[in-house]
Amino acid sequence: MKVIIVRDSEEMSDRAAETVLDALAQKPDLVLGLATGSTPEGLYRRLVKAHKNEGVDFSRVVTFNLDEYVGLAPEHPQSYRYFMNEKLFDHVNVKPENTHVPDGLAEPLLEHCAEYERMIDDAGGIDLQVLGVGGDGHIAFNEPGTSLGSLTHVAALTRETIEDNARFFDSADQVPCFAVTMGIGSILKARKCILLASGSNKAHPVRAAIEGPVTSSITASALQMHPDTVAIVEQDAAAHLERLEFYRWQQQNWHLIADKL
Ligand code: F6R
Repeated sequence: MKVIIVRDSEEMSDRAAETVLDALAQKPDLVLGLATGSTPEGLYRRLVKAHKNEGVDFSRVVTFNLDEYVGLAPEHPQSYRYFMNEKLFDHVNVKPENTHVPDGLAEPLLEHCAEYERMIDDAGGIDLQVLGVGGDGHIAFNEPGTSLGSLTHVAALTRETIEDNARFFDSADQVPCFAVTMGIGSILKARKCILLASGSNKAHPVRAAIEGPVTSSITASALQMHPDTVAIVEQDAAAHLERLEFYRWQQQNWHLIADKL
């Protein structure tokens, strides 16, 4: 995994936006995998700005979100569909029919999961997947113990995740206990992933994901098996990394071989 250490969450979002915009410049019909939560909000603000100020065109982009709470309608302010509309989709020219978020109200849910996975494959697979990491090391809602080969499935949320996400609700008991989520196997099919992390509360999962053993106890560690993942990590979130100095050195000196790549 390539690791880039950045000063603050602004620089993290700048780097993430550069990666998405470069990919979009190379492939106007980009298939983009998206995450919700606090981490990618700065990225989405930058994409909206790029559309409004520089005319960046999202008309051929297709998006797939990682997850959605079971039981929340798209109009529910805490649903991930609502979040995506509010933070990104309503402010760029992506076609609503090209945006996909799992349907937390679908029944039977397992059929919907299989259909969601099929839709991703039918779209040609995800070119670039944006990821955040949870306090328990999850990516999407792949909680500790989830199979590293899992495809889109129904997941139970851990107590830690429910408590982390309670900040978006009036109280923890309003946070749904289940979600539809892309699996680790679904995420590993993406051609490129960017893992974003900021804040000292992410220092433990970041260290475990990047330098720990590959284990279903920290599902983000499965990204070590992915051929092209870049972790863009703000310095507080990077604080526990053992090879921090090496990552910084590599970052500063990569230009020395850039023209040979
Ligand atoms: C959200 C998602 C989650 C979050 C993670 C971090 O779609 O898949 O894995 O990325 O829980 O959340 P924040 O960014 O709020 O710290």
